[in-house]
Amino acid sequence: MRYNKHRLFIEKVNAQSIAKKVDTPFYCYSFNKLKTNINNFKKNFNKIDPLICFSVKSNNNLYILRIIKKFGLGADVVSKGELLRALKAGISPNKIVFSGVGKTKEEINFAIDKKILLINAESEDEINVINKIAIKKKKKVNVGLRLNPNIDAKTLKKISTGRNEDKFGVPEKIFLKIIRKFNSSSTINIRCLSVHIGSQILDHKPYLRMIRVIENIIKKSKNKFDYIDLGGGMGIDYGLNSKKLNYKKYSSSIERLLKKYKVKFIFEPGRSIIGDTACLITKVIYVKSSTKKNFIILDSAMNDFMRPALYGSLHRIIPTVKNNKILKKIHDFVGPICETTDRFLTLKKYQQLKENDTLAICDVGAYGIVLASNYNLRPKPAEVLINNSSLKIISKRENINKII
Ligand code: LLP
Repeated sequence: MRYNKHRLFIEKVNAQSIAKKVDTPFYCYSFNKLKTNINNFKKNFNKIDPLICFSVKSNNNLYILRIIKKFGLGADVVSKGELLRALKAGISPNKIVFSGVGKTKEEINFAIDKKILLINAESEDEINVINKIAIKKKKKVNVGLRLNPNIDAKTLKKISTGRNEDKFGVPEKIFLKIIRKFNSSSTINIRCLSVHIGSQILDHKPYLRMIRVIENIIKKSKNKFDYIDLGGGMGIDYGLNSKKLNYKKYSSSIERLLKKYKVKFIFEPGRSIIGDTACLITKVIYVKSSTKKNFIILDSAMNDFMRPALYGSLHRIIPTVKNNKILKKIHDFVGPICETTDRFLTLKKYQQLKENDTLAICDVGAYGIVLASNYNLRPKPAEVLINNSSLKIISKRENINKII
């Protein structure tokens, strides 16, 4: 996104002109930004040559998944629904890993039948269930075991996953016990050690600590792992602080591990691939002036984009047409939903706004549309993709009559 003569452009398309063709609010993605992100991710880890499994939970739009597949990525899925969607996008089963603490028997059955690369188990009970199903099917199943390395990734508390108090993975002691138990099993093949310590991580140090824990446990387990799945979690710049993840340091620590143990590394990035490829285009319904502030009441709300209400996360809001009339008054950007948390952002000043002005809520590509709901019986927004000067609707706005 960039401004040209005060007008916001997404690739070569004037953002305001899209809002004349498509009902607001809608998600607007940039194909070329997505392509750049994928290429950068590959470049950052080129010495490792990992299998990159896009985390479908961050964005499951079929069209987006098809693009991701074209660039050679696999998928990290957490439900039968996501697995079906990834397969529908043409992603090969041998590039799909299945994570999650509560896979049902039906989901495990389905994953085994589809011959996916790995089922990443998160408890002893789960491996026992996989084992029972494998015995019934007379099959040997490739499994990953998720380690909880007890590392605080120093990210938002609500999205931390790698501490002992979090529900994910198994602690070291149980990890080693499970490895011993299935050491010579004819039905369970524990080929992968998997971890994932959190999301929106901008400090490389927790990752380096994680690598040390992994190395230690490989030594202790004496197991030959074919894969080490390092999960995702790489943070992006939401434009609010200038901190950037040091990929070089993270990658070098993995390279050292690779020299000792000849394994294939897997990553499960979501946000770092899709997060900054999209904005949510929205219109001002009313400007409500109160004594202390201006409420900018938008036509998008927490049902369209949940992150600010759910995690208190901040996303920049920028005008599609800039003017120079700056108003020094508190501006509260809110949606029409009957909840006080239906607020996107509060700023001390903003350019003068009026009804029908169009704005862009930035960096909403990850955990955006996937978290949308019908709260207040509002239809979910459309998704459009821009590629140079072309525009394609990649998901229609929900039809209000259908949802009623
Ligand atoms: N692998 C596993 C096992 C995960 O649990 C996750 C995210 C990922 C990969 C992808 O992580 P990423 O590269 O996108 O950080 N809704 C929250 C984030 C929840 C993340 C859940 N797990 C948010 O909007 O910030």
